[in-house]
Amino acid sequence: MIVLNVNGKAVSVNAEPETPLLWAIREHLKLTGTKYGCGAGLCGACTVHVNGKAVKSCLTAISRVEGASVTTIEGLSGDSSHPLQKAWLAEQVPQCGYCQSGQIMKAAELLKKNPHPSRDQIVEHMNGNICRCGTYTRIIAAIQRASQEG
Ligand code: FES
Ligand code: FES
Repeated sequence: MIVLNVNGKAVSVNAEPETPLLWAIREHLKLTGTKYGCGAGLCGACTVHVNGKAVKSCLTAISRVEGASVTTIEGLSGDSSHPLQKAWLAEQVPQCGYCQSGQIMKAAELLKKNPHPSRDQIVEHMNGNICRCGTYTRIIAAIQRASQEG
Protein backbone atom coordinates (compact mmCIF):
# COMPACT_ATOMS: atom_id res chain seq x y z
CA MET A 1 0.00 0.00 0.00
CA ILE A 2 1.43 3.36 -1.04
CA VAL A 3 0.07 6.62 0.31
CA LEU A 4 -0.09 9.46 -2.18
CA ASN A 5 -1.21 13.04 -1.83
CA VAL A 6 -3.38 13.77 -4.84
CA ASN A 7 -5.18 17.08 -5.25
CA GLY A 8 -4.71 17.85 -1.58
CA LYS A 9 -6.00 14.53 -0.25
CA ALA A 10 -4.06 11.61 1.16
CA VAL A 11 -5.06 8.47 -0.71
CA SER A 12 -3.90 4.87 -0.33
CA VAL A 13 -3.13 2.93 -3.48
CA ASN A 14 -2.89 -0.83 -3.32
CA ALA A 15 -0.39 -1.42 -6.11
CA GLU A 16 3.19 -2.42 -6.75
CA PRO A 17 5.74 0.35 -6.08
CA GLU A 18 6.78 0.47 -9.72
CA THR A 19 3.19 1.04 -10.92
CA PRO A 20 3.10 4.13 -13.13
CA LEU A 21 1.46 7.11 -11.45
CA LEU A 22 -0.80 7.38 -14.50
CA TRP A 23 -2.46 4.06 -13.69
CA ALA A 24 -2.80 4.89 -10.01
CA ILE A 25 -4.53 8.13 -11.00
CA ARG A 26 -6.80 6.64 -13.64
CA GLU A 27 -7.52 3.11 -12.46
CA HIS A 28 -7.23 3.31 -8.68
CA LEU A 29 -8.41 6.86 -8.06
CA LYS A 30 -10.72 7.11 -11.11
CA LEU A 31 -9.40 10.54 -12.04
CA THR A 32 -9.74 10.08 -15.77
CA GLY A 33 -8.90 13.61 -16.92
CA THR A 34 -5.28 12.53 -17.23
CA LYS A 35 -4.86 10.56 -20.46
CA TYR A 36 -2.82 7.66 -21.72
CA GLY A 37 -1.27 8.46 -25.06
CA CYS A 38 1.97 6.64 -25.71
CA GLY A 39 3.05 5.26 -22.34
CA ALA A 40 6.62 6.06 -23.30
CA GLY A 41 7.18 9.70 -22.41
CA LEU A 42 6.72 10.91 -25.97
CA CYS A 43 3.37 12.72 -26.09
CA GLY A 44 2.62 14.55 -22.83
CA ALA A 45 -1.02 13.46 -22.63
CA CYS A 46 -0.35 12.09 -19.14
CA THR A 47 1.16 15.30 -17.73
CA VAL A 48 0.46 16.05 -14.06
CA HIS A 49 2.27 18.15 -11.48
CA VAL A 50 4.47 16.72 -8.75
CA ASN A 51 5.34 19.44 -6.25
CA GLY A 52 4.39 21.98 -8.91
CA LYS A 53 6.60 20.53 -11.62
CA ALA A 54 5.10 19.01 -14.76
CA VAL A 55 5.95 15.32 -15.06
CA LYS A 56 4.90 12.54 -17.38
CA SER A 57 2.90 10.27 -15.14
CA CYS A 58 3.30 7.30 -17.50
CA LEU A 59 7.01 7.26 -16.67
CA THR A 60 6.74 8.04 -12.96
CA ALA A 61 6.60 5.14 -10.51
CA ILE A 62 4.27 5.70 -7.57
CA SER A 63 7.10 4.86 -5.17
CA ARG A 64 8.91 7.97 -6.42
CA VAL A 65 6.06 10.32 -5.49
CA GLU A 66 5.19 8.96 -2.07
CA GLY A 67 4.91 11.99 0.21
CA ALA A 68 4.95 14.42 -2.71
CA SER A 69 2.08 16.65 -3.72
CA VAL A 70 0.47 15.41 -6.95
CA THR A 71 -1.95 17.65 -8.85
CA THR A 72 -4.07 16.43 -11.76
CA ILE A 73 -6.28 18.46 -14.07
CA GLU A 74 -9.16 17.82 -11.64
CA GLY A 75 -7.19 19.60 -8.91
CA LEU A 76 -5.89 22.55 -10.90
CA SER A 77 -8.73 24.66 -9.54
CA GLY A 78 -11.79 23.76 -7.51
CA ASP A 79 -14.24 25.20 -10.02
CA SER A 80 -12.44 25.27 -13.38
CA SER A 81 -11.64 28.94 -12.80
CA HIS A 82 -7.90 28.74 -13.42
CA PRO A 83 -6.98 31.46 -15.96
CA LEU A 84 -5.80 28.77 -18.37
CA GLN A 85 -9.08 26.88 -18.18
CA LYS A 86 -11.01 30.09 -18.87
CA ALA A 87 -8.66 31.00 -21.72
CA TRP A 88 -8.99 27.49 -23.18
CA LEU A 89 -12.75 27.99 -23.34
CA ALA A 90 -12.50 31.50 -24.73
CA GLU A 91 -10.13 30.39 -27.50
CA GLN A 92 -12.12 27.18 -28.14
CA VAL A 93 -8.84 25.28 -28.09
CA PRO A 94 -9.81 21.58 -28.08
CA GLN A 95 -10.65 19.57 -31.14
CA CYS A 96 -10.95 15.92 -30.05
CA GLY A 97 -9.77 17.04 -26.60
CA TYR A 98 -7.61 14.03 -25.85
CA CYS A 99 -4.31 15.86 -25.36
CA GLN A 100 -5.74 18.92 -23.71
CA SER A 101 -5.50 18.18 -19.99
CA GLY A 102 -1.82 17.46 -20.49
CA GLN A 103 -1.42 20.68 -22.47
CA ILE A 104 -3.08 22.72 -19.72
CA MET A 105 -0.99 21.14 -16.96
CA LYS A 106 2.18 21.80 -18.92
CA ALA A 107 1.12 25.39 -19.58
CA ALA A 108 0.24 25.88 -15.89
CA GLU A 109 3.80 24.99 -14.95
CA LEU A 110 5.07 27.70 -17.30
CA LEU A 111 2.80 30.47 -16.02
CA LYS A 112 3.63 29.64 -12.44
CA LYS A 113 7.32 30.28 -12.97
CA ASN A 114 6.97 32.86 -15.76
CA PRO A 115 3.61 34.69 -15.61
CA HIS A 116 4.25 36.66 -18.81
CA PRO A 117 6.14 34.44 -21.23
CA SER A 118 7.03 35.49 -24.76
CA ARG A 119 5.63 33.55 -27.69
CA ASP A 120 9.01 31.87 -28.16
CA GLN A 121 9.14 30.88 -24.50
CA ILE A 122 5.66 29.37 -24.80
CA VAL A 123 6.59 27.38 -27.89
CA GLU A 124 9.78 26.14 -26.28
CA HIS A 125 8.08 25.16 -23.03
CA MET A 126 5.21 23.35 -24.75
CA ASN A 127 7.53 21.40 -27.03
CA GLY A 128 6.95 17.73 -26.25
CA ASN A 129 3.21 17.98 -25.69
CA ILE A 130 1.84 16.57 -28.90
CA CYS A 131 -1.59 17.37 -30.35
CA ARG A 132 -2.63 15.04 -33.15
CA CYS A 133 -5.38 17.49 -34.09
CA GLY A 134 -2.88 20.29 -34.58
CA THR A 135 -4.43 22.81 -32.20
CA TYR A 136 -1.06 24.43 -31.52
CA THR A 137 -2.01 27.90 -32.72
CA ARG A 138 -4.98 28.01 -30.35
CA ILE A 139 -2.94 26.55 -27.49
CA ILE A 140 -0.43 29.40 -27.85
CA ALA A 141 -3.23 31.98 -28.10
CA ALA A 142 -4.87 30.61 -24.94
CA ILE A 143 -1.63 30.71 -22.98
CA GLN A 144 -1.05 34.29 -24.12
CA ARG A 145 -4.60 35.20 -23.10
CA ALA A 146 -4.21 33.58 -19.69
CA SER A 147 -0.89 35.36 -19.16
CA GLN A 148 -2.62 38.68 -19.78
CA GLU A 149 -5.57 37.93 -17.53
CA GLY A 150 -3.96 35.85 -14.83
S1 FES B 1 1.30 8.82 -22.20
FE1 FES B 1 2.90 9.69 -21.04
S2 FES B 1 4.07 10.81 -22.46
FE2 FES B 1 2.58 9.81 -23.68
S1 FES C 1 -7.18 18.09 -29.51
FE1 FES C 1 -7.07 16.13 -30.42
S2 FES C 1 -5.08 15.45 -29.90
FE2 FES C 1 -5.10 17.48 -29.26
